[in-house]
Amino acid sequence: MKAKEIRQKYLDFFKSKGHTIIPSESLIPENDPTVLFTTAGMHPLVPYLMGEEHPGGNRVTNAQKCIRTSDIDEVGDTTHHTFFEMLGNWSFGDYFKKEAIEWSWEFLTSSEWLGLDKNRLACSVFEGDDNAPFDSEAFEIWKNLGMPEKRIARLGKKENWWGPAGETGPCGPDTEMFYWVGDPNKVPDSFNDDHDSWVEIWNDVFMQYNKTKDGNFEPLAQQNVDTGMGLERILAVINGVDDNYKTELFANIIKKIEELSNLKYGDDADDEYIKNGKRCWVNTRKQFRIIADHIKAAAFIMGDNKGVAPSNTDQGYIVRRLIRRAIRYGKQLGITKELWTKEIAQIVISDYKEAYPELEQNYVFILNEINKEEKKFSKTLEKGLKEFEKKGNINGKEAFDLYQTYGFPIEMTKELAEEKGIEIDEKEFKKELKKHQELSRTASAGKFKGGLADSGEETAKLHTATHLLNAALRKILGNHVYQKGSNITAKRLRFDFTHNEKLTVEEKQKVEELVNEVIQKDLPINFEEVTVDEAKEKGAIGVFDAKYGDKVKVYKIGSDKNLFSMEICGGPHVNSTGELGEFKIKKEQSSSAGVRRIKAVLK
Ligand code: ALA
Repeated sequence: MKAKEIRQKYLDFFKSKGHTIIPSESLIPENDPTVLFTTAGMHPLVPYLMGEEHPGGNRVTNAQKCIRTSDIDEVGDTTHHTFFEMLGNWSFGDYFKKEAIEWSWEFLTSSEWLGLDKNRLACSVFEGDDNAPFDSEAFEIWKNLGMPEKRIARLGKKENWWGPAGETGPCGPDTEMFYWVGDPNKVPDSFNDDHDSWVEIWNDVFMQYNKTKDGNFEPLAQQNVDTGMGLERILAVINGVDDNYKTELFANIIKKIEELSNLKYGDDADDEYIKNGKRCWVNTRKQFRIIADHIKAAAFIMGDNKGVAPSNTDQGYIVRRLIRRAIRYGKQLGITKELWTKEIAQIVISDYKEAYPELEQNYVFILNEINKEEKKFSKTLEKGLKEFEKKGNINGKEAFDLYQTYGFPIEMTKELAEEKGIEIDEKEFKKELKKHQELSRTASAGKFKGGLADSGEETAKLHTATHLLNAALRKILGNHVYQKGSNITAKRLRFDFTHNEKLTVEEKQKVEELVNEVIQKDLPINFEEVTVDEAKEKGAIGVFDAKYGDKVKVYKIGSDKNLFSMEICGGPHVNSTGELGEFKIKKEQSSSAGVRRIKAVLK
């Protein structure tokens, strides 16, 4: 069975049970500071689990793209992924345990649907603790369906409790379903969740509580159902393969890695392969899987409609880590080709574009960004590894230097240290990192009136974009435009300027086009230090504030002959406009009398 068929069957089944099919939401959560990514299908649905009315009614179903970084250390085995698709069905205060469990059973075992062997299924229910009692209701429902008691495990909160996705929010006991992937003639009578051959395939969560800030569990006004079935796992199970990476959802990616590394993805026990004419028996499956998983995840994050580029903060840092870790494992596999990661990203895009068209819409961005990241990192990786090899142990300062000079994410240095059997002082590293960030923040905050909320690449980019916007507004609207205020977060810029009327659609479009044109031209950015008077003479714009002191920096975008912008400012900026991506105005509104406000982003 193909992934596409399973997705469709799942949605059809729940449609037949009165559910509305809804699309997958973005991987980047909307207005939710509690998590970086959409980690489960329920995540975008939290408001409805809390009682808001869903436009699709109180039964919905979908296939949701998810990113889970909490399992990153387990990626490398046969069943864990950073990116995965979750098939889910929800009840917002409508049906509860009985229907949820019975429908899960029907979908899994009925010959009309997945037709799995009942004898290879087992489940677990919540055993109870101080916060909530043993889930006897779920237990009885399973028993009535014919599940042998020995195959119904009673487990604690660690296993049989879901949520909340962040610190607070809806949560409750769950019942998980497992499938025996070992020898079908040797299915054990009883279920043991420690055994690798019992693979978890589905989780039905009964959301009855809200976890509050102070750690209490309050009953929710409505009882909800939230279920999640991992598509990659069920696909492997249905097709009788013992490794998700051997399914259709990874086959082409693995093939590409084989081609690039000149190795075979080991399907024999010894992982025998021939390299440079020599027979080797090293297990390379882990490297294959991590590369496949990480590049797929990075491509999906960058290819989201709220796509994020590699950077040193938030989601961008995760993308960076994923790509850099994949590159390091690629090196272990002996991949010598330059700029190979984009070749894998290309396969991800073509394999998934039908189900997730945004990947194709954003493919230029994905390929550009992964290429840039690989270029950047492969320059320093070799040197950094040599530097690392010299060390007998790693203290926080050294780990920080590896990060600062060679771009080694801390997690990667930790991993390298573990492989070498040496310890690393993470606490000390974090201290160094914080110290550094605070330093660069004060350095720029002192000089830049606009108030940079953060250091890091994203803000430098947005800062440069602000200069482009300022210059473009003057060119399109006229020289009456002056900066009245500026504020930059890691995600967007906000720019206030003098102008009396609301911008027309055409004006906005022209401004956007002009900024993007300059980005396309990849103009260099330089600065010189001059006195305020000299700056004025040259025709630099900017906030001529006493605060700048005697000498000021004048940032120039473009060469002297072909200058697009010249502005007094403390920096920091990117090196050339080509680094910015696509500029987009999100909002244009009034700020105060005679002052307009634009919010814009880089995609
Ligand atoms: N939210 C539940 C999970 O992710 C279904 O397992």
